[in-house]
Amino acid sequence: MDVKSIPNTVIRRLPRYYRFLDELMESGVERISSAELSRRMNVTASQIRQDLNHFGAFGQQGYGYHVEYLYQEIGRILGLDRVNEMVFIGAGNLGRALANYGNFVKRGFQMIAMFDQNPELIGKTLACGLVVRDIAELEAFLAEHPVRMAGIAIPKTNAPAVAERLVACGVKAIWNFAHTDLALPDDVVVENVHLSESLMELSYLYHSRYPEEP
Ligand code: NAI
Repeated sequence: MDVKSIPNTVIRRLPRYYRFLDELMESGVERISSAELSRRMNVTASQIRQDLNHFGAFGQQGYGYHVEYLYQEIGRILGLDRVNEMVFIGAGNLGRALANYGNFVKRGFQMIAMFDQNPELIGKTLACGLVVRDIAELEAFLAEHPVRMAGIAIPKTNAPAVAERLVACGVKAIWNFAHTDLALPDDVVVENVHLSESLMELSYLYHSRYPEEP
């Protein structure tokens, strides 16, 4: 299977399949037909079949999908079958909320260090147990703990320089919350997360459906 040839739109739908399958497993469902999965996910059965066919023949005629198997396979495709250690830069409101959110650990993402430049935050212990480290120690820390993933939630003016420092230390994947597009080498992958864009989409959906409402 060549993951590179799979359309991005399909990859973007996989986390949703993964979440639904997780919920099905939690409620004790062992197998599910594509029709039922389609009903629950509000996606056509043919879309589901087309999506999953990119990764091999998961379903069986007359049987449907084996929930746990499909869950594990999608998890493997998403790289969730291993622990993904990461560091995080910016122990402000957003950084702290993310660090303290336990569900990422359940998905295999382990935040092993949090950095900030604010002397009032450095040395503080977060609810998740991490102690905020001085950003000045970033290079030394990454030399000792060569992780490949990092998150950034700092003002956009400071983000490019910090991202470059991370990349110089071998980081290859950046979860970027700063409101700026990072220009980084091609071998570095960046996932931009902009909650305000999601809110604007919601605004569009609402106002286009209810044009008379305030
Ligand atoms: P905040 O002001 O509470 O935290 C920012 C933290 O970054 C501060 O603790 C500050 O000391 C630290 N910082 C600044 N420059 C740094 C550097 N060079 N190295 C290390 N630490 C540094 O802000 P908040 O609310 O946590 O938001 C963080 C950033 O994320 C903001 O820039 C904000 O615009 C952005 N944001 C993005 C969202 C999104 O959906 N993408 C949603 C909310 C905020």
